[in-house]
Amino acid sequence: MKLLVTGAAGFIGSNFVRLVLDTDPTVQVTVLDALRYSGNLSTMADFLPRIRFVRGEIQDRGLVDQVLREYHVTHLVNFAAESHNDRSLLDNSSFVQTNTLGVQVLLEAARKHGLERILHVSTDEVYGSIADGEFTEESPLKPNTPYSASKAGGDLLCRSHWVSFQTPVIVTRGGNTYGPYHYPEKLIPFFMVRLLSGKRVPLYGEGLQVREWIHVKDHASGIWTALNKGEPGQVYNVGDVNERQNREVVDFLLSQLGLDSTYVKKIPDPRQGAHDARYSMNASKLQALGWRPSTGFEDGLEDTVKWYCDNEEWWRPIVQNESYKAFVRAFYGRSLGDDL
Ligand code: TYD
Repeated sequence: MKLLVTGAAGFIGSNFVRLVLDTDPTVQVTVLDALRYSGNLSTMADFLPRIRFVRGEIQDRGLVDQVLREYHVTHLVNFAAESHNDRSLLDNSSFVQTNTLGVQVLLEAARKHGLERILHVSTDEVYGSIADGEFTEESPLKPNTPYSASKAGGDLLCRSHWVSFQTPVIVTRGGNTYGPYHYPEKLIPFFMVRLLSGKRVPLYGEGLQVREWIHVKDHASGIWTALNKGEPGQVYNVGDVNERQNREVVDFLLSQLGLDSTYVKKIPDPRQGAHDARYSMNASKLQALGWRPSTGFEDGLEDTVKWYCDNEEWWRPIVQNESYKAFVRAFYGRSLGDDL
């Protein structure tokens, strides 16, 4: 297999490449990544010598074309995305550029070069929020933020390219993912780096929203299963059974670090009406292909806490970066005040 992985300098993509290289050393991996703010070469340091790296955007038609031709790519997995809901509330144009238009470029290139498979990595957030029960792959798409709408746009393009051109495309929709190398802007890594810096953490409202958590290794193995065993034209949910309220997750982090609830600052919900109350997916379609998640939530979270404690040299340069600080100031400045 000659595999192009786009967005592999990010969180899930880098963990996926690690899994592929460990699982099947015969796979030739090329990475295309723009190294935008959340993509770092340091995230790929351990496997960089074993892959080919090309820096660039997935929206760059000429470059994508050249990479597919030059390296005789047979399979493509797309992780390249703008993925942070809160940033999409500040400015969402880059979300549509990458998550929707970028996918269109990859689909056209896959068609032109006759790829054997293209797998597009998406999210449960395209379904919107669910009060009871679980989303299946047949559930309607009702995205509530510009981020999730831009992802839904990519998913729909995938569907249309299968129906119209029989491009062998598979879509996976993952749950909230946690684990090592997670850029510190999402709930778990953001709170970890703040707590390890002695700072309070901003919990939106009362922290009653429910997220379904999956360890990044399980998410990566789900994508690998779908790539190898999935049917073209199909969508697969990649979810685990770990539903937790945000406040439960935060309490767990505090207890692991031996801290008390004075480290939590409840702030007015910045997402307001766009804050999805609950995500929950049925993953039996992927399980029917033989996939099973293997990391219990508390064990996985304990390991993740330890990883952030042990890998300050990875996250410290990120949080000291001026653009990172500017985002935190812009988004949390008013609500965190002196705690910023
Ligand atoms: P996040 O990790 O941003 O993922 P998503 O929005 O894709 O689910 O947020 C997870 C939950 O944590 C979500 O309900 C919002 C909440 N949250 C906070 O309470 N405080 C924060 O600073 C962040 C980033 C998230």
